[in-house]
Amino acid sequence: MPDLINILVLGDIVGRAGRRALAEHLPRLIDQHHVDFTVANGENLAAGFGTTRNTAEEMFRLGVDVLTNGNHCWDQRDFLRQIEQDERLIRPMNFSSRAPGRGWTVRETAAGHRIAVINLIGQVFMGPWACPFEAAERALAEIPDDVQAILVDMHAEATSEKMGMSWFLDGKVSFVYGTHTHVPTCDEVIHASGTAYQSDIGMTGSYQSIIGMKVESALARMVDKLPRRFEAVERGATIFATLVSIEPETRQCKAIERICIRP
Ligand SMILES: [Fe+2]
Ligand SMILES: [Fe+2]
Repeated sequence: MPDLINILVLGDIVGRAGRRALAEHLPRLIDQHHVDFTVANGENLAAGFGTTRNTAEEMFRLGVDVLTNGNHCWDQRDFLRQIEQDERLIRPMNFSSRAPGRGWTVRETAAGHRIAVINLIGQVFMGPWACPFEAAERALAEIPDDVQAILVDMHAEATSEKMGMSWFLDGKVSFVYGTHTHVPTCDEVIHASGTAYQSDIGMTGSYQSIIGMKVESALARMVDKLPRRFEAVERGATIFATLVSIEPETRQCKAIERICIRP
């Protein structure tokens, strides 16, 4: 299907394990599936906590075009500056208007297609963010009309809120997908409108863990109720990704497929 834009979507990339797996497999995946554009969530790139210049650059070199973010956005102090300087880095649109960076970006593929990516964060069990629905409306009003696909990373805990967003944006965008839970869901669907949806892409990280963190440290916090430093698992990551094919004339999704590469 030569006329479609193939977009590879990755969820949260967790620490060195996630980065290593992508270094090994991402260039081949992009080649094999004729991927035109790749987006990933970078909030856990740096040992599970935020994004650094080096870890972001590592992902861009492997073929990632845009890095979205989430509640770990400001874990690394330097990121406050970096996000201002690089249009490939975005953060949730419904963060405070005083926060640095932008909530959406438009980037061009090698074939000249313009892809918009919007980042939102949920309110349920998450934090005192502004309304993601109003932020989504604002983003759509700001994004230029000449884009050929619109992707929405809804970084959220509650499945219901993510599904709510998919119906709120039904017929207006190409793909609404969840990140943040670090667990993939098998509910990928293309609605009659041409908008695709998946509740969570799932992390690229170790599944012999507690959402990418070493079991000892995470479990001890739960059982002993004592403060303990979380440590990301360093090897053995599984890649979960979703490939969507978008028709540029209509921005509609025509095919959706989950991909899994185990260690
Ligand atoms: Fe995450
Ligand atoms: Fe998160």
